Amino acid sequence: MSSNGPFNTTLPNYRSQPQLLEGQAALVTGANSGIGRAVAIGLARAGARVAVNWVVGEEAANDVVAAIEKEGGKAVAVYADVSKEDDVAAMFKTAIEALGTIDILVPNAGLQRDAKVTDMTLAEWQKVMDVNLTGQFLCIREAVKEFDRRGVKQEVSVAAGKIICMSSVHEVIPWAGHINYAASKGGIQMMMKSLAQELAPRRIRVNAIGPGAIRTPINTDAWNTPEAYDKLMELVPYNRIGEPEDIAQAAIFLASDMADYITGVTLFVDGGMTCYPGFAEGG
Ligand code: BGC
Repeated sequence: MSSNGPFNTTLPNYRSQPQLLEGQAALVTGANSGIGRAVAIGLARAGARVAVNWVVGEEAANDVVAAIEKEGGKAVAVYADVSKEDDVAAMFKTAIEALGTIDILVPNAGLQRDAKVTDMTLAEWQKVMDVNLTGQFLCIREAVKEFDRRGVKQEVSVAAGKIICMSSVHEVIPWAGHINYAASKGGIQMMMKSLAQELAPRRIRVNAIGPGAIRTPINTDAWNTPEAYDKLMELVPYNRIGEPEDIAQAAIFLASDMADYITGVTLFVDGGMTCYPGFAEGG
C-alpha cells in the first residue's frame, strides 16, 4: 500500500465552484506552505484578492502568488514575522495599499516544537506561544481596525469583516509531548470565542477551523511511510488523511456570506478525529 492509503483521495473539481468571495480581499498568514498555501489559492479561486504572508521561504510565497496570477487572480507576497508587533503593522499597511482593504483574515501561521514536559525548554514553550497565539492576536488587532474603518460594503459582503483562526483538533484533544502546541490551540479557541462575542455587534464574524491530520510538512512523520499512515488511520474514522484543499473549502465557506449567521464556532475538518474513534469498540 502506498502512503496515500487505500482510498482514492481525488477531491472534487474546486475550480468549478461559484465565486463566493468576488470583490473581497484576504490576508493569509503562513501562506507559503501547507494549509496556508491551499487556503490562499482556494480563496483566490473563489474570487478574492489575496495577500500571501511569509516569514521564511520568500520563493515559495512568490510561487503561490504566481499560481494565483496564472489562474487570473490577484495576489501579493507580504513579509512579516507574525510574532513581532512592528512587522505585523507594516504587513497590514503593505497589504492594504496593494489590495485596497482587507475583508478576510486567516491567521494561520503556526509551528510545533515538540518535547516531553521535563525536556521542554522555555524557548520552545515561548516560541510556540509567540507564533501560534500572540501572532494571531497581533494580526487580528490590525484586521479589526481596518474592518471598523471601512464598515460594511453591501455589494461585497453583508459583514464588515471575517476572521478565520487556524486552530487544530488539539484545541480539544489533549496531546502528550506537545503541551505548548495544545495550550496555544486551546488559547486560540477561547480567544476566538471571546472575540466573536466582542465583535458581533460590529458585524465582524470570528470563527476557527480545527484541522485534523492534514498532509503538510508540519506532520510528515505521521504519514510518509505506510506504517505511519496505518497508525494514523487508527485515529481517523473516515480512513483517509486530510488534504490542504479540505481546509481551503471550509475557509471559503466561513469567509462567505453563506456563513453569515455563523460566529464563535470551530469547524472541525478532521475526518472524525474528534469523534474519539478509540471508543468505537471500547468504553
Ligand atoms: C498537528 C499535526 C497533527 C494533527 C492531528 C495538527 O494540529 O499540527 O502535527 O498530525 O494536529 O493530531
